[in-house]
Amino acid sequence: MVERPARSDSRSAAAEGLRLTGVTFAHCGLLARLHGLCFEEAWNSATVAQVLRLTGAFGLLATFPERPLGASAPNPDAQTPVGFALVAGTLDERELLSLGVVPAYRRRGVAGGLIEAVFERVRAEGVIRLYLEVAEDNDDARRLYKACGFEAVGRRPGYYARSNGPAVAAITLARSL
Ligand SMILES: CC(C)(COP(=O)(O)OP(=O)(O)OC[C@H]1O[C@@H](n2cnc3c(N)ncnc32)[C@H](O)[C@@H]1OP(=O)(O)O)[C@@H](O)C(=O)NCCC(=O)NCCS
Repeated sequence: MVERPARSDSRSAAAEGLRLTGVTFAHCGLLARLHGLCFEEAWNSATVAQVLRLTGAFGLLATFPERPLGASAPNPDAQTPVGFALVAGTLDERELLSLGVVPAYRRRGVAGGLIEAVFERVRAEGVIRLYLEVAEDNDDARRLYKACGFEAVGRRPGYYARSNGPAVAAITLARSL
C-alpha cells in the first residue's frame, strides 16, 4: 500500500515562505537531483537541458528559506530547493512536462503554488490551454490537478512502463486559461 502524506498543519506557514524563481541552464544539475527525488525514472541534467531548449520552454524552482539552528527567523538568503515545474509548447498551447515536490515538503501547497505561477506566466504569453499527462494510477497527482481545474481529455493505454507490473495508461488533462 502507498503511504500518503497527510495534509500538513504547517501548510499555510510553509506556503508563506515559498519562493518561486525562473530556472536557467545553470540549474540543470539541481533540477535533475530534485527530479530523482520525485520520480522512479530520474532525468539526468542533459535531459533537463534538452527540455529547456524546447520551443516555449521555461522552468520554475520552488524554495523555502532555511532556518539556521537556534535562529529566531529564517534566513532569506539561504534557500532550500523543494520542487520544480517544467513547461514547453508552441503558439497558444503549452504542456506541463514535469512537476515534482520532494517528499518532506508535500501537502504544504508547493505544487499548487507552482501550478498557479505556471498559469500566470503562460497567460501573460497569450496561452489559452495548458496540457499535461499523468499516469492513471498516480492518485496524488490526479487529485492535485483536479483541484487546479484540469479535466481529462484523452487516454493513452499502456503509456508508462512499470517494473513491477503491466504498463499503465496516461490520462491527458487540459486546463483552459
Ligand atoms: C503530486 C505532487 C506534485 C503534489 O505536490 P504537493 O506539493 O504535495 O501538492 P499540494 O500540497 O500543492 O496539494 C494541492 C492539492 O492537491 C491535492 N493533493 C496533493 N497531494 C495529495 C495527496 N497525497 N493526497 C490527497 N490529495 C492530494 C489536494 O487537493 C491538495 O490540497 P489540500 O492539501 O488542501 O487537500 C507530489 O506528491 C509529487 O511530487 N509526487 C511525485 C511526482 C509526481 O507524481 N508528479 C506529477 C506527475 S504528473
